[in-house]
Amino acid sequence: MEFKALLVEQPEKKVFNRSIVTRTLDDLPEGELVVKVHYSSLNFKDALSSVGNPGVTRNFPHTPGIDAAGKVVSCADGSFQPGDQVIVTSYDLGMETDGGFGQLIRVPSKWALKLPEGLTLKESMMLGTAGLTAALSVHQLVESGVIPEQGPVLVTGATGGVGSLAVAMLAKIGFTVTAVTGKLEETPYLEGLGATQIIDRATLLKGNDRPMLKPTWAGVVDCVGGEMLAAAIKSAQYDGVVTCCGLVASIDIPINVFPFILRGVRLIGIDSAECPMERRIQVWKQLANELKLDNLTEMVDEITLAGVEEKVQLMLKGGMKRRALINLLQS
Ligand SMILES: NC(=O)c1ccc[n+]([C@@H]2O[C@H](COP(=O)([O-])OP(=O)(O)OC[C@H]3O[C@@H](n4cnc5c(N)ncnc54)[C@H](OP(=O)(O)O)[C@@H]3O)[C@@H](O)[C@H]2O)c1
Repeated sequence: MEFKALLVEQPEKKVFNRSIVTRTLDDLPEGELVVKVHYSSLNFKDALSSVGNPGVTRNFPHTPGIDAAGKVVSCADGSFQPGDQVIVTSYDLGMETDGGFGQLIRVPSKWALKLPEGLTLKESMMLGTAGLTAALSVHQLVESGVIPEQGPVLVTGATGGVGSLAVAMLAKIGFTVTAVTGKLEETPYLEGLGATQIIDRATLLKGNDRPMLKPTWAGVVDCVGGEMLAAAIKSAQYDGVVTCCGLVASIDIPINVFPFILRGVRLIGIDSAECPMERRIQVWKQLANELKLDNLTEMVDEITLAGVEEKVQLMLKGGMKRRALINLLQS
């Protein structure tokens, strides 16, 4: 069975070439479940895998793509039927297991969930891991008791995949959202998603050398880490809840204990990769219902495999402003 895939090859140390090739099912790792991929999407981890970042992928040749949605071709353990519509995201997909930037994947069946009613395969990949991560962050704020009446919620990296989806989901369920961005020219876009205040990174970082800042945010969805996360924690309200999912600015958090011991601020880590299947199914249902976004198409650029290279380079420069949806049916 032949199919097209983006393949990253390493002809010599530190050199990584990307091209679209024809592969066969035999090239894929073992697994019970074979899926014909209809759509995938581009995430930051895919950009890193594409350029050979050893923190994500060490073995080449390799097909990146931590997200895939499509129809079951076969399932050796019977947990899915041919034709079932499924979503597979993360675990090891696209890291050491050939991923969604190919028209076929073969994976353990326990990595897949049935497409929830209320979402199409295409919509599920407009969301992808970014949507799952944004929804897990929003879910944690709500579960921790943050309510709209308490005050604004801050989202960092707001024009990025996770950030923009978090802005739209929070606005949808009634929160007042402040978006932090390095691209103030994208203010109309962020307002369109539902943000009521847009600030630049320097504004958030003002006075960040002080141990505490004016208490402002009832909740925070942080996608960037580093000084911005530290500033967000220092400016969280009493009992404020801060979620942390990303590292595009830095993996370090230059913070002191005062916000935690004087204001009771709670810092919650978000992991979509090993997130238990039960929680995934619950959050995907929310994405198909109360968190379902009407404006998803405005947040997405649809591309084929041929368009992936340009988006990878843009993402590595921090220049993405819409999610890239990859249509594998047309590749
Ligand atoms: N924990 C998890 O399970 C999980 C899942 C998915 C993603 N992530 C992580 O979440 C982060 C965001 O992912 P994504 O897919 O949304 O990436 P993305 O689309 O590239 O968005 C990142 C955004 O962060 C901002 N940014 C970029 N460089 C920055 C810098 N040096 N300082 C401050 N802000 C910067 C930019 O937005 P503005 O210009 O608007 O500021 C950029 O658009 C990544 O670190 C990714 O690895 C984690």
